[in-house]
Amino acid sequence: MTTNLDHQWMPFTDNREFQRAPQLFVRAKGLSYWTADGRELLDGSSGLFCSAAGHGRSEIAEAVSRQLMTLDFTPHFQRGSPLSFELAERLSELLPEGLNKLFFTNSGSESVDSAMKIALAYHRARGEGQRTRFVSREWAYHGVNFGGVALSGMMRNRQTFAAGGLPHVSHMRHTWQQEQRFQLGEPNSDTDLASDLERIIATHGADSIAACFVEPIAGSIGVYVPPAGYLKRLRDICDTHGILLVFDEVITGIGRTGKAFAAQSFNVKPDIITMAKALTNGAVPMGAVAVDQAIFDTVVGASKGAGPEFFHGYTYSGHPVACAAALASLDIYRDEDLFAKGEKLSPYFLECVSGLRGLPQVSDLRGYGLLSGIQLTPGETPGAKGNRVQRALYEAGLHVKTTGDAIIFAPALVAERQHVDAMIDILKTTLGQENL
Ligand SMILES: Cc1ncc(COP(=O)(O)O)c(C=O)c1O
Repeated sequence: MTTNLDHQWMPFTDNREFQRAPQLFVRAKGLSYWTADGRELLDGSSGLFCSAAGHGRSEIAEAVSRQLMTLDFTPHFQRGSPLSFELAERLSELLPEGLNKLFFTNSGSESVDSAMKIALAYHRARGEGQRTRFVSREWAYHGVNFGGVALSGMMRNRQTFAAGGLPHVSHMRHTWQQEQRFQLGEPNSDTDLASDLERIIATHGADSIAACFVEPIAGSIGVYVPPAGYLKRLRDICDTHGILLVFDEVITGIGRTGKAFAAQSFNVKPDIITMAKALTNGAVPMGAVAVDQAIFDTVVGASKGAGPEFFHGYTYSGHPVACAAALASLDIYRDEDLFAKGEKLSPYFLECVSGLRGLPQVSDLRGYGLLSGIQLTPGETPGAKGNRVQRALYEAGLHVKTTGDAIIFAPALVAERQHVDAMIDILKTTLGQENL
């Protein structure tokens, strides 16, 4: 098969390098991808943290196909289909109690921007429309739409896009500290990092702040698990000052941490949770924002007269085909008890990851659930080593996502020990090389 690579502008990709040495997958099944020339690669990142139930699930394909032939599209402005209501109900059963209302989007980025608007609408509805500031964290990734870019704390994602001119955002420190190196699970820390939120409050005034957004585990930057007690402290500070707490669970949601949501793993209930990725097992684009009932009631209750209470939504919000894919995925997760299966595999997985310590290319290891970050020793420029390593792993038969000089290793929840072993073997061989 020859493929003309001249016309697509690839996202988050070195386009010139891709043209020179394309990495094209043509098939996927279970925990494997196949390239055009028939080579099999193990999938060490669940695609892009989406395919929790493994690739090529016939249950999802059949549900999608049935849905396309039954009701391929419904507008969701003033109309609806029963499917999105069914999905909302199913998700509310999985979510922390009280997060009962689901707003549907098509991606993680849209979920984040929708959550920002919901926070603003909520405060305005309660007569505190002056709360327009957001708090987020250094090293955060909240997608690529303008709201999420303003929240984000990754320089390359911000610097081209005038992020300074975007909504008022104050950044707390990231949570990594030198003494946490090689501590898998929740690291210990004597520093009260969450007090950064109090410092921002002291600078700007609590009554200017709408919401504090955090990834419960900072995923895309390379998996940084916050110290024990950190998220609970944020919750307490937000409660004291009337600030909404938002967990961006686009990666951590839907089972990655061993429970349906990281909020449950860490036993901290936010006011809003964003999700996407594994919601449909990656088969169809979809995201969602789970909102506390009280927020919905406030926004809807404050609206006077007829007409929408919240002027926001997407043509494809609650798309019937995406809903069918999500419902079929949730059925698989339930019937195969995949969140518990992942939780059970986690100690073995993390032990295998810690076995990479001491390899010449490894400078730190982090992880929780079935999500781990492998920090590489720095190369000549930031990201150069990461890029070489992902290519070497690709050649050696392992697909993983790298960000800068970190590998994000996160196999599907259906993985067995032997899958982890096979992936770790490849990692050991490649990261064991002195010169890379
Ligand atoms: C925490 C978080 N938020 C938002 C996003 C953006 O999601 P999407 O790429 O679906 O827009 C991501 C993607 O990795 C993410 O990890």
